[in-house]
Amino acid sequence: MSTVVALREPDPETRVALVPEVVAQLVRHGLSVTIQSGAGTLALHSDDDFAAAGATVATGGDLARALATAQVLVHVRPLDPERIAALPPGMITLGLTGGVDPVIVEALNAGSITALSFERLPRTSRAQVMDVLSSQAFVAGYRAVLEAAIRLPRFFPLAMTAAGTVPPAKVIVLGVGVAGLQAIATARRLGAKVAANDIRPDSAEEVRSVGAEFIDVGIAPQAGAGGYARDLDAGAAHAQQDVLANHIMDADVLITTASVPGRPAPRLVAAATVSAMRPGSVVVDLAASAGGNVEGSLPGVEARIPSDRGGGEVTLLGLAAAAADLPVDASGLFARNVAQVLRAMVAEDGTLTLNLNDELIHGMCYTHEGRSR
Ligand code: NAI
Repeated sequence: MSTVVALREPDPETRVALVPEVVAQLVRHGLSVTIQSGAGTLALHSDDDFAAAGATVATGGDLARALATAQVLVHVRPLDPERIAALPPGMITLGLTGGVDPVIVEALNAGSITALSFERLPRTSRAQVMDVLSSQAFVAGYRAVLEAAIRLPRFFPLAMTAAGTVPPAKVIVLGVGVAGLQAIATARRLGAKVAANDIRPDSAEEVRSVGAEFIDVGIAPQAGAGGYARDLDAGAAHAQQDVLANHIMDADVLITTASVPGRPAPRLVAAATVSAMRPGSVVVDLAASAGGNVEGSLPGVEARIPSDRGGGEVTLLGLAAAAADLPVDASGLFARNVAQVLRAMVAEDGTLTLNLNDELIHGMCYTHEGRSR
């Protein structure tokens, strides 16, 4: 029987790659599952919950023995060289691998590890159920709006009270992929007036379909490979920044989510635009860890920027790991994505094979038999 292992993720990660509900499914498909004791604690899944779902909960020497004979290690955070060195040769790992890091690649190849990387999953319709980037971006987009709403010294919705009427907050969302669309939907549910911009060809229609106004910056749509955007040239980027600045100065909340795979986050908002916002306004940059869409934003840092309009400051929040701030649902979605990949590899009798003829497994394959792919 093929064994799948999930370990406790390194600090400060709160998520876990498998949850009890998914363990039960995998066991029904003939797989054997081992979970490190305490792996689910921060996502509120106890060892007892995992054991009741059919997992073996292990620690110390038992865990090391299970790992030595396991076929697959599933993980959330990219593995570090120390963890990789403890894996048996030929093991399959499945999780996020982060940016290309030669030290990690060398460790994977030295250990003859077959690393399957969620970042490399082709974006086809069959792949949607496996798409960790989407599921975690969905959580992050929701969370970003809540972070903004709680900091904004105003209502989000139009409030009609006996004491008078309060207008709705104006929210701008930049980058309308999975996170941005969820940010729009969440801000709209809270009653805000939302406008958004993206540069992909379909984005204007997508923005309007979720009830927001599209900000037309007057540049031709830009499509990159695989449904992603590509970098704008300097002229178009300046034109975009100038038009956006006029809208941002009038907004209460700005949420930025723009990203181009394998590239630093596009700079969409200058520091001067943030300072030109009204006191009390809130900016949340979901791209802070990739260099930031907003000049001056740093991952995990909440800064107060004096407003040029006087009388107060603008809050600039660089959200570093927004999905990990909702560990219960983020882990649940992550684990379901993991299960879909495993199911693509498992035969009727519960044996697991790395089918490199499957375009999705082939696409995810980062290292195999000591070589990078
Ligand atoms: P992402 O996280 O790579 O980027 C977020 C957004 O930033 C994208 O919409 C991108 O166009 C935008 N962006 C990049 N540069 C920008 C700039 N200079 N100005 C404004 N916006 C900029 O993208 P994500 O969320 O992963 O999805 C991208 C696309 O892929 C979407 O169309 C989505 O619907 C599609 N998709 C398809 C999937 C599938 O078929 N399996 C799964 C997930 C997404």
